[in-house]
Amino acid sequence: MIAHTQPSDVIDVVGITKSFSGKREVNAIDLRVRRGEIFGFLGPNGSGKTTFIRMLCGLLTPESGSGTCLGYDVIRDQREIRARVGYMTQKFSFYEDLSIRENLDFIARLYAVENRRQAVDASIERLGFQGRSGQLAGELSGDWKQRLALATCLIHSPQLLLLDEPTAGVDPKARREFWEQIHGLANEGLTVLITTHYMDEAERCHRLAYIAYGTLLARGTVDEVVASAGLSTWEVAGPGLNELARELRPVEGVRQVVPFGNTLHVTGSNAHALDSFTSPWRTRGTHQWTRVPSRLEDVFIHLMDSARDNFS
Ligand SMILES: Nc1ncnc2c1ncn2[C@@H]1O[C@H](COP(=O)(O)OP(=O)(O)OP(=O)(O)O)[C@@H](O)[C@H]1O
Ligand SMILES: [Mg+2]
Repeated sequence: MIAHTQPSDVIDVVGITKSFSGKREVNAIDLRVRRGEIFGFLGPNGSGKTTFIRMLCGLLTPESGSGTCLGYDVIRDQREIRARVGYMTQKFSFYEDLSIRENLDFIARLYAVENRRQAVDASIERLGFQGRSGQLAGELSGDWKQRLALATCLIHSPQLLLLDEPTAGVDPKARREFWEQIHGLANEGLTVLITTHYMDEAERCHRLAYIAYGTLLARGTVDEVVASAGLSTWEVAGPGLNELARELRPVEGVRQVVPFGNTLHVTGSNAHALDSFTSPWRTRGTHQWTRVPSRLEDVFIHLMDSARDNFS
């Protein structure tokens, strides 16, 4: 059962900061996540996502900042938070030499789950493990391991799920099924904060935030994040795209040139400058230039490049 007495903001933190060896890895992050929301937490490798998540769920203490998670203070009430949060770590783990049922039972004991047997049976059924619950976890294929990891995170009926790259290394069908499950859980009132490097998954989130160099650079719905970047993008098709990309990269007004399937995306932050400086290529007739809406990936690459200029 999911409790219904939580505040509307399941996560409400300001100024969350953490350094390791004097280097600031999470820099004054403010974040609010509403109940029942699927919130995507995106950013390049090493940008501080896992560190931030560990501070939310009471495993790491922020050096400064404050706020609440599920209404509990993130500095003072870490034990309360840990008891109410399901955390799927980046390298999801369970006991390989225990069966599926034994794994679930073991975690249920750790959390002192009431009606343990019932909870384990329900979990086995919900995740489609019927008939194979005696199988050793270590023998499962990647997608079933992921299901088991998710099941162990849910066994104590958490109110908030923190999922750190839960779909890394699983195939598209398993990813789709996983997302159907996540949306089902959110419909029941569970709140989900999820990190991913997949753009299609970012687009499945209700809202998202983008972090680079420990700093939050954008947040909102996909449409809001794309609009706020104010980018202008041309899609270019035709022969010799590698060579064309090399020519276009140094052109004034061009912020980035990125291969996209059989095309190039040529993006600038000032539409007028982009159009006028690329005009010689656009009028040459060797390639088809089509104005397209900027995509989330264009925006993230742009944000990351700008952050590199500002913070590194
Ligand atoms: N316990 C630690 N001690 C020292 N440095 C750490 C520790 N944990 C993380 N870091 C450093 O903090 C930075 C942010 O790491 P973090 O794991 O939070 O990034 P991330 O956004 O989760 O990256 P990825 O997408 O690769 O998982 C990295 O430079 C990492 O090396
Ligand atoms: Mg990480």
